[in-house]
Amino acid sequence: MLYFISLHFIKASTLKKQLYIETYGCQMNFSDSEIIAAIMADARYELTTDYRQADVIFINTCSIRENAEQRVRKRLRELQHIKVKNPGVKIGLLGCMAERLQEQLFHEEEAIDLIAGPDTYRDLPRLLHLAESGQKAANIILSEEETYSNLEAIRYDSNGISAYISIMRGCENFCSYCVVPYTRGKERSRDPETIIEEAATLFDNGYREIILLGQNVNSYQWKNDQDLFTFPELITAVATISTKLRIRFATSHPKDLSDALIDVMANTPNICNHIHLPVQSGSDPILKAMNRKYDRRWYMNRIEVLKKNIPDIGISTDIITGFCGETDDDHNNTLQLMKDVGYDFAFMFKYSSRPGTKAFRSMNDDVPETVKKERLNEIIGLQQALSLQSNRADIGKSYSVLVESVSKKSTSHLSGRNEQNKVVVFPKRGYIPGAYVTVKITGCTSATLLGEAV
Ligand code: 5AD
Ligand code: SF4
Repeated sequence: MLYFISLHFIKASTLKKQLYIETYGCQMNFSDSEIIAAIMADARYELTTDYRQADVIFINTCSIRENAEQRVRKRLRELQHIKVKNPGVKIGLLGCMAERLQEQLFHEEEAIDLIAGPDTYRDLPRLLHLAESGQKAANIILSEEETYSNLEAIRYDSNGISAYISIMRGCENFCSYCVVPYTRGKERSRDPETIIEEAATLFDNGYREIILLGQNVNSYQWKNDQDLFTFPELITAVATISTKLRIRFATSHPKDLSDALIDVMANTPNICNHIHLPVQSGSDPILKAMNRKYDRRWYMNRIEVLKKNIPDIGISTDIITGFCGETDDDHNNTLQLMKDVGYDFAFMFKYSSRPGTKAFRSMNDDVPETVKKERLNEIIGLQQALSLQSNRADIGKSYSVLVESVSKKSTSHLSGRNEQNKVVVFPKRGYIPGAYVTVKITGCTSATLLGEAV
């Protein structure tokens, strides 16, 4: 009998609990979820892809626009039902919504047992322990130091080829519309040695593309007693790991895009010839109201220098339409700037007023919803035409494509990206993910290039 009891004890103490993570929002959140998975693995939680099997469900949330929060609230109400069947399951709300709404969430969303802000993930096992004892647990303290630098992220949803490495956290730019400085706190950079080490390990494990992440990578700075290590130096060091490792980065703030970075991009073959450079608006009064700290002339100068030094560069952007006070003239200036740059790709949004921001406090969200919609449609229509035009211009050219996976639409085709970050689909012919294949472009849609391996 004793024998059986002790066996049972061993089984119970080695049994891992099941954790399900659902992520909303930006690349930074997806990267954070990989860190959360690592912290929870140390606390003996293993990941499941089925939330119905989970002992713990974490929702990693985004506050950037109101509809991002609404999606999460809707999801929480769905999850409330599984608590009826499985009362033991604990639900944690993590990330920007946790930071923004704090304990208020416990009153508004019955499903939540635990809330944790973006700088408190190391505290998750303790918070969970409290939640398991029946308490509502919260930690929303923002840190000036936390960069999760010594953790080995678990790449649980990865294609095995491309990986994010977060190199800095927080933002202090205070664009007047943006909630991020309030939810992610002060800007801080991560120790470069740990970044380079992580990238080298990923390369050894078969990864072929690293995306260095931060809210504003151009202001990356690491200081020790003697030296100052900047972003161009960091990216150069990561690129030296191997010429077979592609390096990308996001996001760059136009005000900090230095000639030094453009030089490094132009002169380092494995730093991809692509930049994501959010413009937000093409109109000077709106850029000023947004507190973007550059004007149209400055932005166009950065584009000119980029194109001059890297003639085949791919350029993408973010645009917000319908910001406070935006007139038809302002909107037309945005359309004109889009044409002047000739973006290859854009993320386009309607302005969403966020409590706590400068725009919320002191400006008037005065562009009617119908006008915001019309302007957004016009911007999306123009971008589609620009993307198609840019893709058509690629027909006949050949690109080195890093293969990522089998194409979603056809198992006889592979899908990858060229340096410019365009998706390229081509017949498989024995190539495998992780390979670099030279592909000649023979056709396109506005979203994809089609070609043949040469
Ligand atoms: N409303 C709409 N879009 C926003 N963004 C940030 N804040 C808002 C907001 N309040 C957009 C910006 C940013 C991208 C990540 O989200 O374009 O670059
Ligand atoms: Fe928000 Fe501006 Fe910081 Fe980007 S740079 S996260 S838009 S405040």
